[in-house]
Amino acid sequence: MIIPKIKRFIKSNPRMYRFIQTLIRVIRNSVPYYLRRYKKDAFHGDKVWQDLVSELSKTFDFTSFVETGTFRGTTTLFLSKVFPKIPVFTIEIREDLLKESKWRLRKSFNVKIIKGSSSDIIPQIVKENKLGNFPFFFLDAHSGPMIPINNELKAVNQLQKAIIMIDDFEVFGNPQFKFNSYTMEDGSKINLGIDFIKENVHLDKHRILVPNYSLAEAGNIPPNKFRGHIIICQNLSEEEWSKILRLETVRHYYKI
Ligand SMILES: C[S@@+](CC[C@H](N)C(=O)[O-])C[C@H]1O[C@@H](n2cnc3c(N)ncnc32)[C@H](O)[C@@H]1O
Repeated sequence: MIIPKIKRFIKSNPRMYRFIQTLIRVIRNSVPYYLRRYKKDAFHGDKVWQDLVSELSKTFDFTSFVETGTFRGTTTLFLSKVFPKIPVFTIEIREDLLKESKWRLRKSFNVKIIKGSSSDIIPQIVKENKLGNFPFFFLDAHSGPMIPINNELKAVNQLQKAIIMIDDFEVFGNPQFKFNSYTMEDGSKINLGIDFIKENVHLDKHRILVPNYSLAEAGNIPPNKFRGHIIICQNLSEEEWSKILRLETVRHYYKI
């Protein structure tokens, strides 16, 4: 009872919130890596989402996987096991998280951790042809002050074929899924939703799936971890698209 009240009080005071966050970071960073404990909650622990990614990995011959926003490498670790035969690129802007993830992923030999902003790195690796002809993306680097999503998508748009998942995305008509929203310079608010990315979504080459399941089906994770997302399929053939529609997870838990 008292803990949620304290949390609400701290969150309502931005300066105190920032101070406590910094304090937690300093304390955490002073603990040696080998003593740190991690949850195994890839994709926020959402079982349906994990199953979808596993099913897709068995259905298509992806040539690479790209995650933006490594954080502590939890989802990267899962991805390195689900896609053991292809390179898994993960991009992180923060030096401390980069170092920690390098340690955590030291035995994941197919993972390549890249330091920098995904805004710059995605266009760069696309231009350098590092991803092969069918990459799979998980775009999740939108926690900072600069939201890289449209720069990422603009670069991905140049690829012949891809599947792109975006985290923290507004699922229209299903407010149970939590999503990011941002305050613009003029004080107005904008959600990370379809309007936010509309300049980079094109009817002639993109088909979209959105989640349509309950918290219980996701594995009863904490409600704040039940995050909205979107799956964008870029330039898939009719045959590939019908393969997607026949997947168990898609038939039961996603809609067009
Ligand atoms: C929500 S966390 C990612 C969680 C991770 N994908 C997972 O599933 O465990 C967002 C991460 O994006 C990083 N980030 C924010 N802006 C970025 C940018 N422009 N380029 C790369 N990383 C960025 C943050 O430092 C943070 O570690």
